[in-house]
Amino acid sequence: MKEFKRYLLTAALPYANGPLHIGHLAGCYLPADIYARYLRAQKKDIKFVCGSDEHGVPITIRAMKEGIQPQEVVDKYHAIIKDSFEQIGISFDIYSRTSNAVHHKTASDFFTNLYDKGLFEEKETEQYYDEEKKTFLADRYIIGTCPVCGNENAYGDQCERCGSSLSPDQLINPKSALSDAVPVKKKTKHWYFPLQNYEPFLKQWILEEHTDWKNNVYGQCKSWLDKGLQPRAMTRDSSWGVKVPLPGAEGKVLYVWFDAPIGYISATKELTENWADYWCKEDTKLVHFIGKDNIVFHCIIFPAMLKAHGNFVLPDNVPANEFLNIEGDKVSTSRNWAVWVDEYLKDFPDQQDVLRYVLCANAPETKDNDFTWKDFQDRTNSELVSIFGNFVNRTFVLMHKLCKGKVPKLHEDILDDADKKLFEEIQNSKFKIQNLLDQYKFRDALYEVIDLARKGNKYMQDKQPWIVARQTGDDGQPNGEAQKQIDNTLHICLQLTANLAIFINPFLPFTAKKMIYMMKVVDKMLDWENAGKAMLLSIGYSLRAPELLFRKIEDEEIAAQIQKLKATSGNVQNKNINSQKMEDIKVEDSSKASPPIGGGGLEGALKSTIQYDDFAKLNLKVGTILSAEKVEKADKLLKLEVDLGFEKRIVVSGIALHFKPEEIIGKQVVVVANLASRKMRGIESNGMILMAEDKAGKLYFVSPGEKIDEGSSVT
Ligand code: MF3
Ligand code: ZN
Repeated sequence: MKEFKRYLLTAALPYANGPLHIGHLAGCYLPADIYARYLRAQKKDIKFVCGSDEHGVPITIRAMKEGIQPQEVVDKYHAIIKDSFEQIGISFDIYSRTSNAVHHKTASDFFTNLYDKGLFEEKETEQYYDEEKKTFLADRYIIGTCPVCGNENAYGDQCERCGSSLSPDQLINPKSALSDAVPVKKKTKHWYFPLQNYEPFLKQWILEEHTDWKNNVYGQCKSWLDKGLQPRAMTRDSSWGVKVPLPGAEGKVLYVWFDAPIGYISATKELTENWADYWCKEDTKLVHFIGKDNIVFHCIIFPAMLKAHGNFVLPDNVPANEFLNIEGDKVSTSRNWAVWVDEYLKDFPDQQDVLRYVLCANAPETKDNDFTWKDFQDRTNSELVSIFGNFVNRTFVLMHKLCKGKVPKLHEDILDDADKKLFEEIQNSKFKIQNLLDQYKFRDALYEVIDLARKGNKYMQDKQPWIVARQTGDDGQPNGEAQKQIDNTLHICLQLTANLAIFINPFLPFTAKKMIYMMKVVDKMLDWENAGKAMLLSIGYSLRAPELLFRKIEDEEIAAQIQKLKATSGNVQNKNINSQKMEDIKVEDSSKASPPIGGGGLEGALKSTIQYDDFAKLNLKVGTILSAEKVEKADKLLKLEVDLGFEKRIVVSGIALHFKPEEIIGKQVVVVANLASRKMRGIESNGMILMAEDKAGKLYFVSPGEKIDEGSSVT
């Protein structure tokens, strides 16, 4: 493996067009921060840079909507975002902004460098133009119907419903986002970067040399490269942005996705005069933390730009996360369906780590995940309070009660297997956690930390020092043997506590600080090299009284948050209620030999959100049951013949305990008609019947309200 001398971590520059929400944190900033803190604890040479992305259409549209200047928009949100990052403990070495002079110069020089090499192709093309507003309509300035999924509000660069990347010309019925006017075509000149020339390089570099990248990232890159790359315009007609540094380019600025990633370089320049060490030396490990919507820009376009420039290192990894949904629905800032970090901090003062915990424990590392307030409460109360907090608190309370507030001795002569085992577990945890963090598996790493605390609790519970203390001598104090046992137990629990502080520090830095204070040790104890050690706290050292690390989250607090979310959002509530109903229709899986019947169809938590496309893959058809008979030697299965209009099918269904064959003949049902066929007890089953299940586990057929033609689609 390659040896790196220094690390440069970047986190996507957020657009300064709105406050920060927890989806941003979970997708990008929290994993980046955990990794940065972990590397710092290892005493690596690291820089962690970020800043506000202050150019581009998202900013100018916002300014237009609020009726203010773009500068006012970015000033306002830059301050809010920066403050949220600070308060939630994202430890950037610098949080810069792309409106800085350093950035304008860096981006402009970068463009000139490529221009001087003759790389850009100058092209005059016809583009949409809003005559009312007198402006060209690129990217999000233009809205229309998506040619892929029919969404009527797709943007000129992307459809947010199906995720397709689009160009304005592909939109059906395009209209201006500024005035609703139907745009006309008008000639304009732009500079195109020949991405297609970098295809061989990118294929080699990503598909051959970076098979270590996360599946979601590698997969997206592969699909872009397989489709073939096109020249991409790197300039726009606008007055807001970095001016194109060429004669005759008045009214043109750099495309925001050209200038923004260069912001990482500008921020590093602002941070240190040694910036070139981090950007130009091959033994730098550059890691871009981003959300999945940024993959193509960080894995394909920016690396091609860096390659074209020639002076810079390329990223070693781009560990992008998927999206975090809220209460079963996609985050939507326009509908206010989001949990805002600044509001969270006001509603839950001093509870930064609780949010950090929940977002990491439930991080969308491999697929979209869902944040629910109930899960927030459950994880806080049953993991942080009951496991981690409880272990540390018990250890401190008992140490004060049974060991005079000091770190007791370790009596080697009476060490037993359980004691030795726990020491081993501490060491094993170090390797497991380290290994996972090195692979950007933050959520699994955090699980290991909690699991170690769980083992501590179990150990304490088995040892029961409070019961051992009842073996008293004449003076009413625990007798010599008993005290030795108590000493060992608490000595080990205290050393484990010190280790837990080191392990939890990258994830929950505020908690680690409290623990340091309670143990009266210096910050240096948190250095990663100390992890796994058996003697972190010296014998005889007196410690402070325990402080509660976490508090329980009450039902009322959760109810209030859910209420707030629903009250301030648009029509999302109804949508949510609908998706709840959908879930009540439990899909009975006839592809399993013993289908799960009974129990909890109503209360079950919602599964993670799917996209419309996932649903659209199903062919649901109305059919009529023509015949039904029991399957031999399978008391749960019925063999059904179903008329689907266009054909008759055999479906094996696990409903025999609920219905007699003769009573269901003639019933209309809904069949998943394109399910792969499967043999059950020697019979080939072609499809599956939808069933609803009530609380008591009773099954009902899902059928149309009245009799309709066989083969009708359910959509
Ligand atoms: N502002 C972009 C977004 O929020 C991210 C820019 S990342 C950078 O999606 F690389 F361009 F800086
Ligand atoms: Zn679409």
